[in-house]
Amino acid sequence: MSTTLDTTDVDALVVEHIVKVYRTRKSETRAVDDVSFRIRTGTTFGLVGESGSGKSTIARCALNLIAPTSGRSLIAGEDPAKLHRGALRRLRAQTGMVFQNPIMALDPRMRIRDIVAEPLRTHTRLSRAEIRRKVEELLDEVGLAAVHGDRLPHQLSGGQCQRVGVARAIATGPRLVVLDEPTSALDVSVQAQVLNLLQRLKRERDLSYLLISHDLDVVQYMSDDVGVMRGGSLVETGRAQDVLTSPAHDYTRRLLAAMPAAPGIAQLDRKDLPPDPGTTTPTARDEMRVLR
Ligand SMILES: Nc1ncnc2c1ncn2[C@@H]1O[C@H](COP(=O)(O)OP(=O)(O)OP(=O)(O)O)[C@@H](O)[C@H]1O
Ligand SMILES: [Mg+2]
Repeated sequence: MSTTLDTTDVDALVVEHIVKVYRTRKSETRAVDDVSFRIRTGTTFGLVGESGSGKSTIARCALNLIAPTSGRSLIAGEDPAKLHRGALRRLRAQTGMVFQNPIMALDPRMRIRDIVAEPLRTHTRLSRAEIRRKVEELLDEVGLAAVHGDRLPHQLSGGQCQRVGVARAIATGPRLVVLDEPTSALDVSVQAQVLNLLQRLKRERDLSYLLISHDLDVVQYMSDDVGVMRGGSLVETGRAQDVLTSPAHDYTRRLLAAMPAAPGIAQLDRKDLPPDPGTTTPTARDEMRVLR
């Protein structure tokens, strides 16, 4: 699945010995306990593990959305913790995040157009006219029509909302995107469309992904490398085909056996997928024919 790699490339993400302890007055949770891995530029790193194993926490620490208790991450070679405000803002613009529940992730009172424009207003100095144009381009790129821009989140389908989430995540032109269960809240047929959209964007925009998923087929379909989390630790990492087909650890074997595999992703013939209702732009139709 991966492209040819230039070995002189800086890794898209390096995570080094990250520890995250959540402290409350009464308790202390070691959510992430000394985790290290790297994502080669242009590849997808799939992170699997049971609920509460620390997957989202490590992703947030890696992007510096929350501060790790110790350890560090390097995004395209840069340590966000060492940067001053302006440089940090530029580095933040080079990362994006897609969340699990698309409807809940979008502000219900904001028009789609403004939701997609928000990161552009925060991270760039584009004029209003330039932002307007860029939003139109982004909607088109994720397979939405311009009319969708005028709607509110509840006026779109789940799949369309996730397309908005993707448009927002790529708005500032990031190179590294975290996908935290990007399709688990969606219907099976829509899942395949969103995954295909993500794969197309990865190719066209030369993205690197950190993908969190509990769906074995999704991980297999998307990932070059895989990491297995258990209780805050990374118990196994390696090439996806090795880890998924002949895991070294007994824990991985048991986890994989327990992971659901949505038949929709692996077995559906993509040509026969119905379009996401209301999404009729050529881009959306095209992406149902690509891949595999
Ligand atoms: N803000 C927080 N404050 C306190 N504890 C937290 C916080 N966020 C997460 N935790 C705890 O840290 C641990 C790891 O949580 P995390 O959300 O990273 O797990 P996860 O692997 O993403 O789980 P899921 O698959 O359910 O999304 C859990 O025990 C969780 O309860
Ligand atoms: Mg999570």
